[in-house]
Amino acid sequence: MSKKIIAGNWKMNLDYKNSLLLADKLSKILNIKKSRNEVVVFPDFSSLFLVSRIIKDSQIKFGSQDVAHKSLGAYTGEVSLESLKQLNCKYILIGHSERRQYFADTVLVADKLFNVIKNSKINPILCIGENLTERKKGITYKILDKQLEEAFSKLKPKDLENRNIIVAYEPVWAIGTGLVAETKDIILAHKKIKEKFSKMFSGKKIKEVKVLYGGSVNVDNFLNLQNLKEVDGLLIGGASLKAGDFLDIAYNF
Ligand code: PGA
Repeated sequence: MSKKIIAGNWKMNLDYKNSLLLADKLSKILNIKKSRNEVVVFPDFSSLFLVSRIIKDSQIKFGSQDVAHKSLGAYTGEVSLESLKQLNCKYILIGHSERRQYFADTVLVADKLFNVIKNSKINPILCIGENLTERKKGITYKILDKQLEEAFSKLKPKDLENRNIIVAYEPVWAIGTGLVAETKDIILAHKKIKEKFSKMFSGKKIKEVKVLYGGSVNVDNFLNLQNLKEVDGLLIGGASLKAGDFLDIAYNF
């Protein structure tokens, strides 16, 4: 069975100094005792390089919170895929709901996914999820289908052969609010995402999509999602900022 992924999305919550401190704490403890899970952190761009150095000899992998839709070019303020490749990033978050909400980052999601798949070996983590209005209207699965279709619209089955594709199901209303989706709803949403993906892309060389859950996961609730075959890991925001809490989840999930 492949490893579950425990990913910490630091967002813009930590400045440079505190990012390095947290990376140092995590790597020191994980050096002494390893987790059976794949442990990943997503620092902000300014900390990415030094965090990567600090965790180099530990089991921690790192990723980028976003990427430009082109490999290189005149795109002021963006971070290029080429740089992320040279830094040895293993994962890239694409379409996180905060990007979609505050930076209108919806139109470029398909281009970003295309860029990462076609021009690198980095594993994309596509973030999708319904907002509260959509949930109340009962159109959650329609929204998830639509977001998947849009995100993968530029890719063909051949492009995805032998690639690790990861989707993070993050209900927008559960992010940073302390509200967690009910376990039965999470299981169903993950099943639907896996079904939809295999309808869109199937073939001998196409791996099953992994689906992570994200949205107010913490030390008090993560065990509800343990040992569920539909849940391939967790994407954790707030609780990933405290080394003790994050490690508790990384060791015990
Ligand atoms: P949260 O964030 O755990 O603070 O809700 C999760 C995320 O946005 O990835």
